[in-house]
Amino acid sequence: MHISASILPELKEAYAHIQDQGPLASLAWITEKFPGLITFSTSFGIEDQVIAHLIFSQQLPIEVFTLDTGRQFTETYSTWTRTLERYGKPISVYAPEAELLEHLLSSQGPNGFYESVEKRKQCCQVRKVEPLERALAGKKLWITGIRAEQSANRQHMSALEWDEKHQLLKFHPLFDWSFEQVKSFVKEHKVPYNVLHDKGFVSIGCAPCTRAIAPGEDFRAGRWWWEDASKKECGLHQAN
Ligand code: ADX
Ligand code: SF4
Repeated sequence: MHISASILPELKEAYAHIQDQGPLASLAWITEKFPGLITFSTSFGIEDQVIAHLIFSQQLPIEVFTLDTGRQFTETYSTWTRTLERYGKPISVYAPEAELLEHLLSSQGPNGFYESVEKRKQCCQVRKVEPLERALAGKKLWITGIRAEQSANRQHMSALEWDEKHQLLKFHPLFDWSFEQVKSFVKEHKVPYNVLHDKGFVSIGCAPCTRAIAPGEDFRAGRWWWEDASKKECGLHQAN
């Protein structure tokens, strides 16, 4: 199936009719449109746990994968384990290439990412961006847990987008949900979630690059907090 950006207007129009029925209906709808060509990326954050719950409990034929950077929190690995136990469904893993990782660590040491934006981006490149390329190969639609509320940058995105870099469609089924909606879904359906969310962590990435935020702070203030706010994307989700 050949897909290009030109499909977007038609798809957005169809989505406008289904949107009000909620994320489950839209996931089922999109699955029918691109059978076998859809993949969902999870970092085991609270939004991703909602989507994983919908996919797994409704047996939607969508591949689920995670990028294991090797530097995540113990609590994140435990959320991953509890997710496998609860749903009994496979989660594919993409990890950094051994040689690239060896080269990175030899050249900048284990925590070189604190020294400059350039070194931080090199680490994200090896641990996330390159594995992501492999995870998306051959796919036509990529589902993520992005919500508009997460950052000023993300408010300019839309639930359905064209990803120029990866030449595929991106779909964010919880795009318009508030953090409160996400939390109440998780509570209602007893979805396993990362306990760090109860300790002031909102957006959870790698352990050395994530910290809790104070009430009222920007959702992404706890990510790469030592960097200039405008540089705080790791390369997974670039503006087109
Ligand atoms: S990031 O670009 O800053 O790292 P963020 O943590 O906000 O992204 O997560 C947004 C979405 O990106 C998640 O809902 C998930 O779909 C995807 N994502 C982020 N990190 C990972 C990861 N390690 N593995 C798989 N997907 C991820
Ligand atoms: Fe490396 Fe930090 Fe990026 Fe994780 S978030 S890949 S530890 S720089």
